[in-house]
Amino acid sequence: MTINQFKLFATCAKGLEDILASELLALGGADVKAGEGGASFKGDLALVYKANICLRTAVRVLFFLAEAPVDSDEALYEFASSIDWSNYMTPDHTLMVDSNVRDSNLTHSQFTSQKIKDAICDQFVEKVGRRPSVDKENPLVKINFHLSNNHGVISLDSSGDSLHKRGYRPKQWKAPLNEALAAGLIQLAGWNSSQTFWDPMCGSGTLPIEAATLATARAPGLTRKKFGFQGWVDFEQSLFIEIRNQIRNQVEIIPELNVIGSDLRGDSLRACKDNAGAAGVGHLIDFRKEDFENIKPILGTTGILFLNPPYGIRLDQEEGVADVYRLIASVAKARFSGWKLAVMTGYVHALNEMKMTPQKTIRLFNGAIPCKLYLFDL
Ligand SMILES: C[S@@+](CC[C@H](N)C(=O)[O-])C[C@H]1O[C@@H](n2cnc3c(N)ncnc32)[C@H](O)[C@@H]1O
Repeated sequence: MTINQFKLFATCAKGLEDILASELLALGGADVKAGEGGASFKGDLALVYKANICLRTAVRVLFFLAEAPVDSDEALYEFASSIDWSNYMTPDHTLMVDSNVRDSNLTHSQFTSQKIKDAICDQFVEKVGRRPSVDKENPLVKINFHLSNNHGVISLDSSGDSLHKRGYRPKQWKAPLNEALAAGLIQLAGWNSSQTFWDPMCGSGTLPIEAATLATARAPGLTRKKFGFQGWVDFEQSLFIEIRNQIRNQVEIIPELNVIGSDLRGDSLRACKDNAGAAGVGHLIDFRKEDFENIKPILGTTGILFLNPPYGIRLDQEEGVADVYRLIASVAKARFSGWKLAVMTGYVHALNEMKMTPQKTIRLFNGAIPCKLYLFDL
């Protein structure tokens, strides 16, 4: 039997659970089970570090502490008090509690966070006469409370900031795709890196960057400055460095890759190049300013055209959205025979405008926006 098989749960965007579960299996997670909005698994502290550095589709990795029925504020206080918090922090640690509450008697996440914080601080005051302080920006220990149907789970958040923040996108861009979602979409579409990957409406370049990091086995966490577990009392710096070095050594050095990002807006190109450079894949992506209307494949090549076009709801004053979808269909059909086409969109009339039937449709969410990933063989 393996020692220290902690209970863990990795969260992800709805629709990516199976991809996340396969990532966890590949990392050596035990008892991996995909659920709603994530996957449960078991593993030791080394796997907690590895999962945070390597998972492409996860938002956070939660380290389970306790669960109990919670139907009132008294029950919540009692539940939080039943955990011996001195195992996880000292009064010198800063903390923050993040709550996620639904379909339960307690309905306010700020209230539940406050109640748990009170229980923790009261326990320390009672035992040692001092209490940890709250830091909402940069806590050393981040606690996660999940309440659903009056069932509460308290976990430590081993990730801290959401894992989609890889650290390669300092510049904000309008309507960017979340990095973890982009990584999941590419895996759902089943792109094979011997073929071309082309995002002809690439905005800040998220899809090409995630494609290049996937193709070179470059773990997304290698560019991140900080993970939640680094603030824990039992953080093993030497183990973390050893694991990170092993993961860094797995990056495949390949001289070239057929990954293209283009957009009609020239100002996005600077952001794309900076972001790709920061992600370590700048030399592998061909970014160009080009109107979709004019794109043509190099003769004899095939691959996937991967688009996240405007939805007409997220960008202000988006006009002519229907025209964009008609254009996508006509260019793809006329010039990209033998290619695959993937369209990730929240535009509900997309298929009507394209007049095309997808081989596969996958329902997903881009933040709160219900979206579909349509996969076509051209
Ligand atoms: C929703 S954004 C894409 C965001 C991108 N996936 C990211 O992560 O930053 C849509 C992009 O389509 C581009 N676009 C719209 N019409 C276009 C056209 N005809 N040719 C090329 N790009 C176009 C816009 O400039 C915008 O950057």
